[in-house]
Amino acid sequence: MRKTFIALASMALLVLACSSGDAPVELGAESGISEGERIYRMNCTLCHGTDGKLGFNGAKDLTKSTLTKEEMIARVREGKGTMLPYKNMLSAKDIEAVVAHVRSLPKTK
Ligand code: HEC
Repeated sequence: MRKTFIALASMALLVLACSSGDAPVELGAESGISEGERIYRMNCTLCHGTDGKLGFNGAKDLTKSTLTKEEMIARVREGKGTMLPYKNMLSAKDIEAVVAHVRSLPKTK
């Protein structure tokens, strides 16, 4: 009897552990967007637009940016003008991911 209980309890734990561990990954895969794009949509589209060209509030057209990857990371970390610094809101990994997304936006000449 006691053994059955322990077996059941550990099975329940296993199920719990699996479902909580897998859920976010599945969500990301289902929506079909990268981590960088997700962060971009949550934080940057307001001023830069989904395609990077919106230019709200004097924001630069990101597809025309001549900044290097390192300069972009610095710009996102420190902010400039009306753009907020993101270093306290996003982790270094998040900033790297969002900059990679910005750099992957289709360029306009
Ligand atoms: C409140 C509006 C606003 C938000 C939100 C915002 N930006 Fe900006 N961004 C600006 C403005 C304004 C500039 C131009 C600053 C300047 O050079 O004076 C800018 C400039 C930039 C530049 C430099 C472009 C260049 O070539 O000089 C990058 C890169 C950038 N933003 C990325 C981002 C990313 C990534 C996010 C989201 C994490 C973001 N921005 C969120 C307003 C915003």
